[in-house]
Amino acid sequence: MRISDPSRYRRTFLKSLGATAAWLTLGRLGHAAEPTPDGTPATLRQAAGPGLLVGAGVMSRQLDDPQLGPLVAREFNCLTAENEMKPLSVQPEKGRFDYGPADRIVEFVEKHEMKLVGHNLCWHQQSPPWMYQDDAGNPLPREQALVNLRAHIDTVVGHFKGKVIGWDVVNEAISDKGGEYLRDTPARRALGDDYIAKAFEFARAVDPDAQLYYNDYSNENPDKRQKTLRLIRELKDKGVRIDAVGLQCHFQTKYPDAPRILNEAVAAYAAEGVKVMLTELDVDVLPRATGGAEVGTRERTGSNPYKDRLPADVARIQAGYYANVIRVVRQHPGVVTRVTFWGTHDGTSWLNDWPVRGRTNHALLWDRDLKPKPAYGAVLKGLTVSLEPNRRP
Ligand code: G3I
Repeated sequence: MRISDPSRYRRTFLKSLGATAAWLTLGRLGHAAEPTPDGTPATLRQAAGPGLLVGAGVMSRQLDDPQLGPLVAREFNCLTAENEMKPLSVQPEKGRFDYGPADRIVEFVEKHEMKLVGHNLCWHQQSPPWMYQDDAGNPLPREQALVNLRAHIDTVVGHFKGKVIGWDVVNEAISDKGGEYLRDTPARRALGDDYIAKAFEFARAVDPDAQLYYNDYSNENPDKRQKTLRLIRELKDKGVRIDAVGLQCHFQTKYPDAPRILNEAVAAYAAEGVKVMLTELDVDVLPRATGGAEVGTRERTGSNPYKDRLPADVARIQAGYYANVIRVVRQHPGVVTRVTFWGTHDGTSWLNDWPVRGRTNHALLWDRDLKPKPAYGAVLKGLTVSLEPNRRP
């Protein structure tokens, strides 16, 4: 999106500053924020407006925090369970389902008139081994693995039917290796390549009203994008409906070109007829050798340069990065229908423990004292500016 009218840009920018100031005034209190007196949005959910959900990945215990819970209710209109709806969480033992923490999230979203996204039904991480493997670690016979997958999806999708708007049905199934299409996973070894289609079919049968998504990291990049487009086409050719592709968007400040690549990717996915959701957005400021977001990959050591505080210049760079991402979101109205941040304040980010354990990362919109960072202001402004109807691309 280009700013073609400088005076309008100045007006909008000043309004956005007003919105940020309003938020600062509200501080850490949990009030339901009203728009500022001149009508500009005071929170992310107000700024997002109709047609775009703005969400966060959360753990249920965070919602009971007297400061963080109200912030989540005020700022977001959509939640994703960061961990508590994953296969291992909801079915830790065969046939024993545990919905306690996930149901707490359901209760919270209902109370605060938010939406909930189910994450996830099939993933090579955080899934109970027995689902696809025998005791010796060998793949189960296809029929047996199909029974397990179907039983899991029937029960879990059935439990959350009417409570979630959609599911990340399959997570991270595409290979990171050039020249290799699908990732080698326990589910694929047992079931074959059509395990993805089967998972979608099973979920659709249980909850025909839920949106069904394929979710992955680095799938804005050309190689993984091509493979994802292939997957979408193959699903459609089989008559399997897929509603959206989830782009996790675990970005790093050291790759400033990613928003431009994201913009191309959104256009390519839109041309394929699916919606796009930014499902796990964060912007890592720490050095690391590992790209992507494969949780199984670790680095044993790494420097921890910002353990006391995030320097102002780095915070500014990060804010500019977030602004560029939100600009892409607003360039595709009706296509990008959700942006979800993978956590709330910096202390909640998985990046404090990945790929190096125990570092102090600053990947999100609020600092550890729940003060909004420059990144927050940039996101609020990016969402707000683009609400002006004439500025819609
Ligand atoms: O709950 C146990 C706790 O009982 C135990 O004491 C503690 C000891 O390490 O571990 C706790 O479990 C951790 C869990 O998060 C809950 O905090 C796991 O070790 C840890 O591996 C797990 O990490 C999560 C990771 O997925 C693996 O499931 C991260 O929080 C979560 O942010 C991350 O999210 C993934 C998305 O689902 C998919 N895309 C990539 C993204 C980032 O890896």
